[in-house]
Amino acid sequence: MVGGGPGAFIGGVHRIAARLDDRYELVAGALASDPDRARAGATALGIAPDRAYGSYQEMAARERARPDRIEAVSIVTPNHQHHGPAKLFLESGFHVICDKPLTTNLADALDLAETVRRTGLVFGLTHNYTGYPLVREARALVAGGALGRIRVVQVEFAQEWLTEGLEETGQKQAVWRTDPAQSGPAGCLGDIATHAYQLVRFVTGLGCEAIAADLSTFVPGRRLDDNVNMLLRLSQGAKGMLWACQVAPGNENNLRLRVYGERAGLDWRQEDPNDLWLAPHGGPTRLSRRAGAGVGPSAAHATRIPAGHPEGYLEAFAQLYTDLAERIVAHRERRSPDPASTLVPGVEDGVEGVRFMEAALKSSRRDAEWTSLGTT
Ligand SMILES: NC(=O)c1ccc[n+]([C@@H]2O[C@H](COP(=O)([O-])OP(=O)(O)OC[C@H]3O[C@@H](n4cnc5c(N)ncnc54)[C@H](O)[C@@H]3O)[C@@H](O)[C@H]2O)c1
Repeated sequence: MVGGGPGAFIGGVHRIAARLDDRYELVAGALASDPDRARAGATALGIAPDRAYGSYQEMAARERARPDRIEAVSIVTPNHQHHGPAKLFLESGFHVICDKPLTTNLADALDLAETVRRTGLVFGLTHNYTGYPLVREARALVAGGALGRIRVVQVEFAQEWLTEGLEETGQKQAVWRTDPAQSGPAGCLGDIATHAYQLVRFVTGLGCEAIAADLSTFVPGRRLDDNVNMLLRLSQGAKGMLWACQVAPGNENNLRLRVYGERAGLDWRQEDPNDLWLAPHGGPTRLSRRAGAGVGPSAAHATRIPAGHPEGYLEAFAQLYTDLAERIVAHRERRSPDPASTLVPGVEDGVEGVRFMEAALKSSRRDAEWTSLGTT
């Protein structure tokens, strides 16, 4: 693991997710930017002292030379520290699992995509909301034609935690997310709008032709956007609206996707992830439950325990790790992976996310002018 040291947020989630299905062992780490904190944090987790590294550069060099070297690395550092370690570990022959957004600019994203292609290694991007069983069910319903041709997509991701200037208190996660040097040029846009956008692409299978974005910074003194309003022109004539906000009191982690087609609409909410609503036009609205009757194989693949026992955020995150474990083992055994394991977002999805961010920034600078994702 790179990042995820003492006091960090998502590194701990990755460690739980990696081990939930007994497919990974954490054996080495460069967990913090400060070498002493990095080593102390790693040994506190039970990592052997000779594999508790002071920097990711030291870790890549020393692991590469070991007969019992790591197979894969998780990168859970702030956004500006994704490209460097991801590239180095790929070049050193290791599979990479990286958190989003892929990078802070398109040149770095394209460079990573080229590196993944050249090395042939597994690269997973942890857009964790794609791991929920009923998100996979929604995807299968759309692909199977249950909704007919898609007309309208409505996605929102609202949070409240940055409603005040939390960064001024020194709160670690708020400080780097509002600092352009560490977050990149996108604030809320990179942090959560990219998740919403990936969810739309994952469930509908549609591409995005152009966006019109209006980014705002409501908290005085904040240096990056904290609210994103956006219209999307999706492929096949579909129209979308995306709202991402970190200054919306009353919203904890309110990610919701609604998709409407010629024949039916569907509705899924992250805070109630074991329910999926499907409303066929002219018929009764149907509630599908995780592991319940009538739910298809792609949802079953992402399910661990019987119906009625709630699964949630950690299990969905773990699903990505488990699917990537199958891909890593298949790579080692020179065979094709189980097709069910191939839904995890990869480096090309990361490039698409960075194109989305760059187009949104450009559109917003031009007073929400329609902007193509292809020409940024
Ligand atoms: N998938 C999700 O839902 C999700 C949720 C939260 C965060 N994230 C992403 O995860 C990443 C980390 O976010 P966070 O909230 O955990 O941040 P954090 O500040 O809590 O943790 C970052 C960690 O990285 C370490 N670090 C920084 N530079 C380093 C370096 N050069 N070498 C080694 N370690 C270094 C820090 O010391 C810290 O331990 C971000 O890219 C963020 O966008 C994703």
